[in-house]
Amino acid sequence: MDQAELQRSGTKAELPSMDQLWMPFTANRQFKAAPRLLVSAQGMYYRTHDGRQILDGTAGLWCVNAGHGRPEISAAIARQAQEMDYAPPFQMGHPLQFEAANLLADIAPADLKKVFFTNSGSESVDSALKIALAYHRARGDGTRTLFIGRERGYHGVGFGGISVGGMVANRKVFRGSLLPNVDHLPHTYSAEHQAFSRGEPDWGAHLADDLERIVALHDASNIAAVIVEPVAGSTGVLAPPKGYLERLRNICNRHGILLIFDEVITGFGRLGTPFAAQYFNVTPDIITTAKAVNNAAVPLGAVFVRNGIYETVVNGSPDGAVEFFHGYTYSGHPLAMAAAVATQQIYQRDKLLTRVLDDGIGQYWQEALHALSDARHVKDLRNIGLIGGIELESRPGAVGKRAFEAFVACYERGVLVRYTGDTIALSPPLIIERGQIDQIMTTLRDVLRTIA
Ligand SMILES: Cc1ncc(COP(=O)(O)O)c(C=O)c1O
Repeated sequence: MDQAELQRSGTKAELPSMDQLWMPFTANRQFKAAPRLLVSAQGMYYRTHDGRQILDGTAGLWCVNAGHGRPEISAAIARQAQEMDYAPPFQMGHPLQFEAANLLADIAPADLKKVFFTNSGSESVDSALKIALAYHRARGDGTRTLFIGRERGYHGVGFGGISVGGMVANRKVFRGSLLPNVDHLPHTYSAEHQAFSRGEPDWGAHLADDLERIVALHDASNIAAVIVEPVAGSTGVLAPPKGYLERLRNICNRHGILLIFDEVITGFGRLGTPFAAQYFNVTPDIITTAKAVNNAAVPLGAVFVRNGIYETVVNGSPDGAVEFFHGYTYSGHPLAMAAAVATQQIYQRDKLLTRVLDDGIGQYWQEALHALSDARHVKDLRNIGLIGGIELESRPGAVGKRAFEAFVACYERGVLVRYTGDTIALSPPLIIERGQIDQIMTTLRDVLRTIA
C-alpha cells in the first residue's frame, strides 16, 4: 500500500522528517513534538495522518467557504493546467482572467467594479494602499500619503499590512521598519459595554468619531485612506458597533479620505451577503479580498476598486504608458483563475453567498453559540454571520495557554477550531448543517469542562 492508499484507508501514515521546514505562525518546537497533520478533505471534514475524521469548524483558515473537495473546482484546475500552465500578466492577457473579473464584478457592491488580482490577502492590502496613493497623486493631491488603521486590526504580514495593522505581536519585532506615515483609530471592543452581544453591539458607534481628532491632528490634506476590517477576525471576532461603519464613511466623505474595507475573511458570503459592505449597507472605495474568492484552491487575492478610482489613475497617464507600476508575476495565474470561475459558479448555483441569512443557519449558529454562556471558563461570546468568538478567562500570567489546550482537545475529539489569545474563533464552511453546528458546540462544552 502506498502513502496515498494508506491515507485513504484511514490507516496510520508514516510521518516525514520535520527538521527542515520552518512553519509559519506556528510554535515550531511544540508542533514538531506532537504533530497535527491533515492529509485529505471532503465536504465538511478533514482526515488526519492517523486516520481520524475532523469536522472543519474554521473553513481551513476562513477560506474554504464552499466546503472541501469540490469536483468542479479540481476539474477546472486540471483542465487549465493541461491547456495552458502559465501566461505572463504584464502587457499580455488570457481570457479566464477577464471572465473571473467579470464574475466578481457582478457581485461587487455599488460601483466597485474594477478588479486587480494578487496572490494573497497581504498582497491585496499592499495593493490597495498603493492604489490609494496612486489615485490621490493622479488627482494632483499627492500630499495625501498618510494611512489610518486601527488597533486590533489584522491586515496580513507585508510591511504595509503590519504598519496599518494593530496586532502588537506582529509589529514589535519590526517596529523600526514600519511605514512612517500611519496613525491608528482605537479598537471597538469593550467587555464592560459589549459582553455577550449578539451580532453588532449596541455600544461603541462614537468610537468612529476619533477619526475627526486624527484628521485635525494631521490635516485632511495629508491623509490618503482609512483601512479597517468590517469585522475584525484575527484579533478575536469583533463585530462593529451599530452605526460605527456609517460614521467612518461619513467622516471620510467629509474630508476626501478613501475608505478601504479589508474583507479577506468577510468576503464571499461569510455574513450572508456577498460582502460585508452589503450586510452593513456601507460602501467603501476599495475592498481587499483573498481566501474564499476561489475557495482557497489556488493562492489568489482580488482588490475591488470604484470605477472612478480606476478611471482617475488610468486616464491620468499619457496614452501608451503603463498607468500603475504594480503587479505580481502570478497576478491572474491561469490555475487560480480557473478555480475562481468554478468557485463563483458554485456560489451562484448553490446560493451560498446568501445562505447564512436565507436559510436561517446564521440564526441557528447564534443560538447554539450563546447556549455556551454557562460553559466553564467562558468570559464572553461574540457572533456575526457564520463567525463565532468564545473568549475564555485567561490563566494568570499565561495568556493563550487555556485556548491552546482547548484547541488541541477539540482536535483530539474530532473538531477543528482556531484560537487567538484566549479567544476560540469559529468560521465553518457555509455548507454546514445544523447537526454539525451542534457537534462543534457540544465538543467545546465538553472540552471546556475537562481542561484546567
Ligand atoms: C482581514 C485580513 N487581511 C489580510 C489577511 C492576510 O491574508 P494572507 O494570509 O492571505 O496574506 C488576513 C488573513 O487572515 C485577514 O484576516
